[in-house]
Amino acid sequence: MFTVNLEEDTLYEVLVSTGTGDDFNIRAFGMRLVDGNIVLKLYPNHTLSNIKKTGTFTVHFTTDVSLFTGAVFGLLDESSLKLVDVSLVCEVISIDSSHVEDSYGKNITTTIHAKPVEIIRNRESIPTINRATNKIIELLVDYTRYDYMNIDAKKQYLEKLEQTEKYIQKNGNQKHKQAIKKIKKETKS
Ligand SMILES: Cc1cc2nc3c(=O)[nH]c(=O)nc-3n(C[C@H](O)[C@H](O)[C@H](O)COP(=O)(O)O)c2cc1C
Repeated sequence: MFTVNLEEDTLYEVLVSTGTGDDFNIRAFGMRLVDGNIVLKLYPNHTLSNIKKTGTFTVHFTTDVSLFTGAVFGLLDESSLKLVDVSLVCEVISIDSSHVEDSYGKNITTTIHAKPVEIIRNRESIPTINRATNKIIELLVDYTRYDYMNIDAKKQYLEKLEQTEKYIQKNGNQKHKQAIKKIKKETKS
């Protein structure tokens, strides 16, 4: 038995890995702990199809902004997992889909409840909150919707990117600066 030391019903930003071999995939997601179970809410994506196929996934906890940036731009592989602090291997209990309508149009979200069955402690780092990291995470979340944005939303995003860049130049470290550089590169069409 192990205890998952997380607050209930609080959204945490994590990495989720699924599949093995050629099908291995690691991406950034939000997760909650509800009644001791891990809950993911997924739009249709590769992670969801792997979870449906295998009935398992692993949640990885890290504060390393370069891992989140790498996950968004598809630059991570299985060797990246040694850099995360803690991983939770999860077994799916239920999968429920529902139709939603948001600013990006009609879509389907799938809620996955899963039981954490194994904990892997890789590294012990000091729990921290870092404003530059939080700002990058927010840019990365929005970046994953960039292709679905209309012209106005794209303009607003690029303005936010400029503002954040100024903050990062003053207060960020090299990893934050690399993240901004990558996002800027990927949003130039
Ligand atoms: C910090 C962060 C949190 C995210 N949370 C979610 C989420 O909870 N659900 C979701 O469907 N996508 C979320 N995304 C977007 C996915 O990471 C993105 O759509 C990704 O490309 C899916 O990859 P896949 O098709 O390989 O699974 C998040 C992105 C970031 C950067």
